[in-house]
Order: sequence, then C-alpha cells, then structure tokens
Amino acid sequence: MMGTPQIGYLAIVGLGPGQRNLMAPRAIQVIQEAELVIGYRVYLEQIHDLLGGKEVHTSELTHEVERATLAVQAASAGRRVCIVSSGDAGIYGMAGLVLDLLASLPEERADTLAEPDVEIVPGISALNAAASLLGAPLMHDFAVISLSDLLTPWPTIAQRLSAVAAADFVVVLYNPISRKRYWQLGEARRLLLEHRTEATPVGLVRNAYREGQTVQITTLEHLLACEVDMFTTVVIGNSCTRVHQKHMITPRGYERRYGE
Ligand SMILES: C[S@@+](CC[C@H](N)C(=O)[O-])C[C@H]1O[C@@H](n2cnc3c(N)ncnc32)[C@H](O)[C@@H]1O
Repeated sequence: MMGTPQIGYLAIVGLGPGQRNLMAPRAIQVIQEAELVIGYRVYLEQIHDLLGGKEVHTSELTHEVERATLAVQAASAGRRVCIVSSGDAGIYGMAGLVLDLLASLPEERADTLAEPDVEIVPGISALNAAASLLGAPLMHDFAVISLSDLLTPWPTIAQRLSAVAAADFVVVLYNPISRKRYWQLGEARRLLLEHRTEATPVGLVRNAYREGQTVQITTLEHLLACEVDMFTTVVIGNSCTRVHQKHMITPRGYERRYGE
C-alpha cells in the first residue's frame, strides 16, 4: 500500500518588467522559499542573487511545455516549486499552461502524485510598464493583442485588430515583430488605418525598466520607420489620444463632465 502523498506547492510567479524594485515582495518571498526554481534562462539571470542553494532548471525561450511539465511533476511529487514568467504570469505567460497541465494529470497516477497547492503571484505586465513610461495612454478602454501567430492563426489576429480598431479602443501590441515574423506589424498598421488617421499617436517602449530602455512617441504614419523588435511594446492611441511634450494622454472624459 502506498502512503498518503505529501502535498507539494507550486508558485507561478510574474517577475515584472525586469527591475528588482518593480517586483512584488511576495514574488521575492516565494522564490526564496522554493526548493526548485524553473524558468527561461534570461529571466533566471535577472534573479540569480535569489537562487543560492536551490535546484535551478533553466531552458530556452520556446521550451515552455517542458518547463511547465517539470514544474507540475515536481510539485505533484510533493516538492516546493516556483516557475517564473516575465511581467505577469497570467498575461501571455506560464500560468495558463501550468493550470492546463495540472487539470490533465492522469487519474491512474493519483496514488503517487497529488495535486499541489497552487499560488499565482501577480507581476507588473509590459503594458503597465510601457504605459507608465509613455504618460497616461491607457486611461480609457483598451485591448491587448499579440501579433505572434505561432499559436494563434493570423486571420484571428487580423479580425481582432479590425474589431478593436473599429470600436476605437486604445490598442497595445505585444510581440510586434521578430526575425521570422517581420510583416505582421505592417499589416496591423494597415488594418488600424482603416479606422484611424495617420496622425494617431503611437508609443514605442523597448526594454522597459531594463538595460537598454528606449521610449519613443511617433504616429501611425511613421510607425514603420521606427525601430521595433521583440522587446518592444507598441501602444496605439484612440481617436482622442493626444501628445503633450513627452507624454501620450488618452482623456478619460473629465472635460465633458466638469467642462474643463
Ligand atoms: C509573450 S509577451 C509576455 C508578456 C508578459 N507575460 C507580461 O505580462 O509582460 C512578450 C512581449 O511582451 C512585451 N514585453 C515584455 N517585456 C517587455 C519590456 N520590458 N519592455 C517592453 N516590452 C516588453 C514585448 O512586446 C514582448 O514581445
């Protein structure tokens, strides 16, 4: 007869954009208390000083399924595990994959594996980080769209771009471009221009709160002349967004209510 399996613990942690003082204190605490920390190499380098004396599993960017599987297996076997994502783990991060894997743990292994206690620790997402550096672009309804068509077919992405452009949402673009995905940003701009003017303000924040940070404000007209890469978040204003000095401002509507 098998004994009762020890209940493990699995923390899914958002590290924020990169700078230590923008990480939640709870994120630091759960990393310090973990026996095993799992993450993409670059993110683990960001927290290397917290990893002393721990087992660490590092892998490359595209190995998310392998990392999530290891985290679930180790925590289900009773260990204290932490898996990290950049920004917020629940926004295009590791949380969904890990919870899916936990939900699919085979019943026949229930004698050796037990569902661990799970904690998801929130982090500052790239959109909060980028917005803070641009001013106040997200003061009204906004939508976030990833231009990566690795997991989502392009027609779905294009349909969503058109829908949010027509509805006058501020649009935040994640994964705007990479070496293999070079045309999607141009196509997104074309779809947005069906509903917005060329003068619409656009904010580009690269490596927010990390080494090499750059912040630029341009317009939809000039977007493609700017440097954009996979570490850039793009914020496209709505029809009311304006630029004042170094800031993008999307009005909330106070002027209508109070007649400013
Ligand atoms: C898969 S999404 C990851 C989102 C992450 N979980 C979050 O909440 O920030 C990756 C995209 O986020 C954006 N991004 C992540 N970190 C960033 C940073 N420090 N500065 C600017 N953009 C960033 C880039 O658009 C990048 O291609």
